[in-house]
Amino acid sequence: MPHLPPSATPAPTPDAATGLRLAFGGDYNPDQWDRDVWREDVRLMQRAGVNLVSLGIFSWSWIEPDQDRFDFSGLDEVIALLHEGGVAVDLATPSASPPPWFSEEYPEAQFTDHLGRRLGHGSRQGFCPSSPDYRRRTAVVAERLARRYGEHPAVVMWHVGNEIGGYNAHCHCPTSAEAFRRWLRERHGDLDGLNRAWGTAFWSQRYSDWSQVRIPGATPGRLNPAQQLDHYRFASDELLDCYRTERDILRRHAPGRPVTTNFMAGTFKWVDYCAWGPEVDLVTNDHYLVAADPEAHTGLAFTADLSRGIAGGRPWLLMEHSTSAVQWQPRNTAKRPGEMLRNSLAHIARGSDGACFFQWRQSDSGVEKWHSAMVPHGGESTRIWQEVVRLGAVLRRIGEVSGSTVAGEVALLWDYENWWALELGGRPSVDLGYAAEAEAWHREVWRQGVVCDVLPADVSADVLSRYRLILLPSHYLTTPGTVGALTAYVHGGGHLLVGPFSGLVDRDDRLHPGPYPGALRDLLGLTVDEFLPLREGATLTLDNGLTGRVWAEAVLPADPVGAAGTVVDARFSDGPAAGGPALLRRRAGAGLVRYAATRFEDSSLRALLAGALDEAGVGSTAPGAGDGVEAVRRTAEDGRSWLFVLNHTDDAAEVACRGVELLSNTTVTGRLTVAAGEVAVVRESRTSDVG
Ligand code: GAL
Repeated sequence: MPHLPPSATPAPTPDAATGLRLAFGGDYNPDQWDRDVWREDVRLMQRAGVNLVSLGIFSWSWIEPDQDRFDFSGLDEVIALLHEGGVAVDLATPSASPPPWFSEEYPEAQFTDHLGRRLGHGSRQGFCPSSPDYRRRTAVVAERLARRYGEHPAVVMWHVGNEIGGYNAHCHCPTSAEAFRRWLRERHGDLDGLNRAWGTAFWSQRYSDWSQVRIPGATPGRLNPAQQLDHYRFASDELLDCYRTERDILRRHAPGRPVTTNFMAGTFKWVDYCAWGPEVDLVTNDHYLVAADPEAHTGLAFTADLSRGIAGGRPWLLMEHSTSAVQWQPRNTAKRPGEMLRNSLAHIARGSDGACFFQWRQSDSGVEKWHSAMVPHGGESTRIWQEVVRLGAVLRRIGEVSGSTVAGEVALLWDYENWWALELGGRPSVDLGYAAEAEAWHREVWRQGVVCDVLPADVSADVLSRYRLILLPSHYLTTPGTVGALTAYVHGGGHLLVGPFSGLVDRDDRLHPGPYPGALRDLLGLTVDEFLPLREGATLTLDNGLTGRVWAEAVLPADPVGAAGTVVDARFSDGPAAGGPALLRRRAGAGLVRYAATRFEDSSLRALLAGALDEAGVGSTAPGAGDGVEAVRRTAEDGRSWLFVLNHTDDAAEVACRGVELLSNTTVTGRLTVAAGEVAVVRESRTSDVG
């Protein structure tokens, strides 16, 4: 059974950090309301069992109405009320939304788009992350807040900004360009290094002076891919610098309080959260269901598993999700009765030590007034409010799971740089997406009732060795570190399944030497002669009955087929690689590598992964789980464990387990029935108890 991967930083668990058991609450924006509503808010929070609110995320113009004129009277009063009411505060710095005076005072700090247009005020995140004025003013307000509330007993945690980079990751102003050049000098040393890394011999792009180097913006033709990759890295680093500036101020004045910022792991492309993980004291994540997807709960599981991977396997915290509809999708469908509870417990099952929402009270004006909240427009009589109260009661009942962890036996490697690199222009097929394919693999493992950890790809061989099976859907950009770790893992007895178009380029998007698949050729024991992408919507068949899509490759096994080396499991029956190998396997050391030379339709992917799981000896978390019945186990250091069972189907489900079901307080002696759409949390009997 795998154990927790070692962490980069000894971050506290939410429980230890905040003193809360499971956190329950949401973004609280009292500055949108009159004073009399504040008391009512605290009363309702108590009624629902809310114990944590994220306060003041967008309150800059409230607490600093004009430059250097601060007014904390409202915030003082709200924090005191919350404290009296027993509600802890996750206090935010307001850097996500500079007020109008800031834009007037510092016009050059406004965000500039890829066409070089400086955008105007009137939304949020309208600033340039590299602006020294932005950094200075956010430092001032963070310092004022931290000095005032750093040791306030109500403030248990700090929240820097909000979804950093969500709207303004890639600013194209002159200040950003200068910062980009500084960053490049550090990375590449001199212009020769830069020219080499970017392959500027192509299309006569050699730079002879740093002043010529620009942020990739609008051009008549395609952009240099290595330049784009560096720009994405720079932008993520630049945002991280903004975060660090504020974090370090908070740490100085609020010792012992964890500092975080809310991620959008798995859904937001432009921040490398794997690199950011060690920079926060507690990983917190926001997740919103894709309303158009009837199985959106599988996407939820993916982002939750990734959040846990970024947190090094430790508990993390769901900072935002919605009680019902959002307001920013084309069709904002409402959650159906019970769905919000299932979503909340699905995050908690996968390691979140709580469930928080955007937002506490539904706004009556502004852009998000049609976004659901814990207190809807209709107040206490609404279905949503009733469900919020029920959720609060459920979280109190299962508080004992706080601090426990989840460990899968199979892991998928995830990498933001691969996401960026694979989806750049100029690839053999626009259908070769990265994130959607990773999610598809994860979803098919989910459907089999198996928990799939999602780990940052720069993981060590030691961490890998704790898994029975590693999945690498399409790992186009491959570093020597990853190859070394995977090789050691396989030789040590692990199973590895690799998808097509993997192993090809280095971090500068330069081909690894020799035949494809470059860096993975030796480990996989094959060469790829040619890539043969399919026409839009086309499929192909394999002689084992599976259906491929998007892609085929002409593969040549490196060893004689059938000998001790590479074995062909299936061949293409039709399509551009007809007759050639489609699925291959090879024993390497004590382990096994498998390669798929196409992508698969869902049911075929399911069959492929079922075979790989079976061969690796990975079974479902509990008999009966799978096919829409989610079962996930959290385990405490002292050996206690809890089985979360979430029934996403329209029929009652039965899962085998023993213990005490905490929501109904009943003993389960072997079979647990969970009604359609319902959830159960079982404190499992230890083997010794059963004995
Ligand atoms: C999040 C954001 C919140 C709110 C929410 C709902 O992305 O952090 O402030 O906008 O979406 O739309």
